[in-house]
Amino acid sequence: MATREARPVRSPADYADGGIIAPVPDEIDARDLEVIGSIPPELDGRYLRNGPNPLPGDRAGHWFVGRGMLHGVRIAGGRAQWYRNRWVDTDPASDDPTAAPMLDANGRDLRRNAANTHVIEHGGSLLVLCEGGVPYRVTPELGTVGAFDFSGRLRTAMTAHPKTDPSTGELYFYGYSATSPYLTFHVADAAGNLIASTPVDVPGPTMMHDFAITEHYVVWLDLPVVFRPGPRAGMPFVWDESYGARIGIMSRRAGRGGSAAVRWVDVDPCYVFHVGNAREDDHGRVILDAVRYGAEAFTAAWGAIGGSVRSSGGHGSLVADAGLTSVLHRWVIHPTTGAFDEEQLDDREIEFPSINEQRVGRSNRFLYAVSGSRNGGLIKYDTAAGSATVLDFDTRQHIGEAVFVPAVAASNEDDGWLISIVTPIAGSRSELHVMDATDVGAGPVARVLLPRRVPAGFHGSWIPERG
Ligand SMILES: [Fe+2]
Repeated sequence: MATREARPVRSPADYADGGIIAPVPDEIDARDLEVIGSIPPELDGRYLRNGPNPLPGDRAGHWFVGRGMLHGVRIAGGRAQWYRNRWVDTDPASDDPTAAPMLDANGRDLRRNAANTHVIEHGGSLLVLCEGGVPYRVTPELGTVGAFDFSGRLRTAMTAHPKTDPSTGELYFYGYSATSPYLTFHVADAAGNLIASTPVDVPGPTMMHDFAITEHYVVWLDLPVVFRPGPRAGMPFVWDESYGARIGIMSRRAGRGGSAAVRWVDVDPCYVFHVGNAREDDHGRVILDAVRYGAEAFTAAWGAIGGSVRSSGGHGSLVADAGLTSVLHRWVIHPTTGAFDEEQLDDREIEFPSINEQRVGRSNRFLYAVSGSRNGGLIKYDTAAGSATVLDFDTRQHIGEAVFVPAVAASNEDDGWLISIVTPIAGSRSELHVMDATDVGAGPVARVLLPRRVPAGFHGSWIPERG
């Protein structure tokens, strides 16, 4: 794919004045928000986004460990009815005192996690996700109901990146652990009942942030960021190439009558925080598109989000600091023969890939991503044409993950809207942008002016209103 001319890296001064990930100190509500442009009248629901926001007085540690805070905007009838932000209440003391702790096989209480990574809806429940433990259930108004373990059936942590099969509505996910079993595969039915849990054999404990499904397979990423507890164990993982790097293909039926055997293929050492999508091609091969970090890119990113937060109290960004290059990459694996190939699809620095989730595990043409510091903006990849459209942003703004919302009368994959929070690097108010996904380069069709600065965060969802 073609490459745009690179921009200069943002100046560290752009991160002054509190820093793009500096927490906000309180919970607020606002109603009837001002809008520039026009919100598509068909949008009726909530945009919810999660991210770390350490409590006042808490020491800022690694970016990944701060207490989760949800930011929500209610949209209906072409209006932005409200904004509110709420911490996720993970304090076990505030749980029902008669409720039993939620322990894993080694006695660790899975309620103890930051609840800061994602928020999804499944089986009628809003679930706040963080890979360190079990989900927390919240109300549509962002109040915390409590820890959620699928009626006692979930006995491991749960990834923040589960995958919903667009045909069956089943939820596929996993938990990884520092202790054996290191990896456990789970399936919940569309109603939210956990129906299968089965251990998967891996050589050791790694940080497994994301995975993929296809129509028939689960795709595992067993990569060399390994568990290594230490004296400053905010996030006790280190790059260790001696672990090896491998991608695994396993039947989706594992634990439900199918084998949990995995076809592993060794790959060049790398790390993947986020998968774009996976699918099977006409030859039965599994095609995986994801954002790949080489050793230098990973260690630069890990240092930026951990080291600089520790030293300065609030600077650093997963896509904006310190010379990292995380790029769109493709792996092609034949599940039966193990034949394997890989190629870099683009050389722009990106993160937070998203797609029309009706294409999860199926063929997708379009992939959206946030681009990094050298060419800041939103990218729409057309993987069939091998081209990309870029919506540039002012370098003094930070754009978060763009969530795709299908149009009501969609006939094409990209008929829909992209919703994202845009935050000034040094300003007091963020905006919620709504973009037409068929015409990303045109810029937002609506800008909702939020009543406060929203720190850069992780992942969010559009939760449609159920009529
Ligand atoms: Fe993530």
